[in-house]
Amino acid sequence: MRIGVPKEREAQPLVAATPKSVAGLIKLGYDIAVESGAGTASRYPDSQYEEAGATIVSTEEAWRSDVVLALDEPTPDQLHLMREGATLISRLAPARNPQLIDEFASRGITALAMDTVPRISRAQSMDVLSSMANVAGYRAVIEAASEFGRLLNGEVTAAGKFPPARVYVIGAGVAGLAAIGTAHSIGAEVAATDVRPEVGEQVESMGAEFIAIPAAQEVSSDGYAKEMTEDQRDAALRLYTEQAAKSDIVITTANIPGRRSPILVTNEAVAGMKPGSVIVDMAAANGGNCELTKPGERVVTDNGVIIIGVTDLAGRLPSQSSQLYSQNIVNLLKLATPEKDGELVLDMDDEILRGVAVTLNGEVMWPPPPVKVSAAPAAAAQPKPDPVEEAARAAAASQAEARKKRIQFGWLSAGVILACLLILNSPFAVIGHYMVLALAIVVGFYVITAVTHSLHTPLMSVTNAISGIILVGAILQVGSSNPLVMSLSFVAIVVASINIFGGFTVTHRMLDMFKKD
Ligand code: NAI
Repeated sequence: MRIGVPKEREAQPLVAATPKSVAGLIKLGYDIAVESGAGTASRYPDSQYEEAGATIVSTEEAWRSDVVLALDEPTPDQLHLMREGATLISRLAPARNPQLIDEFASRGITALAMDTVPRISRAQSMDVLSSMANVAGYRAVIEAASEFGRLLNGEVTAAGKFPPARVYVIGAGVAGLAAIGTAHSIGAEVAATDVRPEVGEQVESMGAEFIAIPAAQEVSSDGYAKEMTEDQRDAALRLYTEQAAKSDIVITTANIPGRRSPILVTNEAVAGMKPGSVIVDMAAANGGNCELTKPGERVVTDNGVIIIGVTDLAGRLPSQSSQLYSQNIVNLLKLATPEKDGELVLDMDDEILRGVAVTLNGEVMWPPPPVKVSAAPAAAAQPKPDPVEEAARAAAASQAEARKKRIQFGWLSAGVILACLLILNSPFAVIGHYMVLALAIVVGFYVITAVTHSLHTPLMSVTNAISGIILVGAILQVGSSNPLVMSLSFVAIVVASINIFGGFTVTHRMLDMFKKD
């Protein structure tokens, strides 16, 4: 089959296939026809497509292909160019385009919507909404930083010290998490809130503080938020107003599929913010999360707050976004080309292919049956405990705990008595060494317990190196005429060497895991 990649409209800088994805599609057995100039706005010249094995064609030829890859809904003119029985793979927003669905059906076109890939683990590599939101979240921080009049990281300079900027992210979905990661890596102090308490752990793992809404929602059943109740809404609005006043940059990403974005940053919240603060409203295209947002515009309020309603954040990084989008399409086509023979096989028993199918050979398939997923593991049903058994178990546990404490106390007392006997029976000159040993144990305990767990292995290898002192002692003694001293020194050299070099080898391998290719 021939896949066509037409040039997008003027306002769309992305392209549905890059030279790299063309190579991937050719491996699946397809012929690729790219319209001349299709990749120019994404910095991919025609020559690179030709080198990858594509043919450069006219607009008509690209749209007349068996399968057409695009970014957005086709215009009526573009749709007229498509052949009956052809397949269109694009973002189609079927929920708000019933007329377009009828049009596809009447023309016998198979339409696959890349923006309806179900949010399940197996489909992650095809999820264009996540890919775009990821890039957009990164770009939102860059936009905010370029409007904000100060550095985002705190610094101590010769001229004085200044604190890091405080970034507050509302909505920790894909875009929110990307914004959190970017702001944190630039050095800002980051906090975030989401109605889904299940994402708190992810927020914290990215180095931000999770500020929960007092009356937050239950765990979601499909990975998306639901409409909030009145109480939740009031509690949330109070929290957002309070946090916005404390923050320098607020990034809002709250989205409820199929509805207007909820208002989270009210006029009152904006009025309470510091002059020079920035709000990036990522939900601007869907109405916005801030009451004062104007989609596509930059608004400066009377109190000097800058509100950015950019709706094309992913398009501001066109090469990157095209690369991700086109790879999502390659991954979908891998699923739909099981024999790698350039023939599309749309198996409607596969929940991903069923999820993206809007029309199939002229038959309307939209909407697909719901897919149940959750960002949090389902809680297993707990059997109700028997109160008598429960009391017996608690008594046994407290007895075991008391016994454990008695044993620990016994060992500790024995250790103290032994140490006292040893000190009292040692020559006076050695007693000073015991003092050093005791101090080393106390200092070592506090140093090691203050080190984060993930750094324990590198720390161990450094402390292992301390056994270098054993190596030095053993080397000095290995030439002894006493065979016992000589053999013990030899064993000490071998063991200490394993300890030192082995430790560094393990650390080296660990650090290699963090190196980029
Ligand atoms: P998502 O659905 O993964 O994340 C939205 C998050 O907001 C969810 O975690 C949800 O629980 C949370 N949320 C919903 N209502 C909330 C509330 N009242 N308070 C706190 N949290 C709430 O969506 P994704 O993919 O991260 O996209 C986020 C937004 O970014 C969407 O509105 C999307 O349209 C927009 N977007 C904007 C772009 C632009 O250029 N401006 C580009 C790409 C995405």
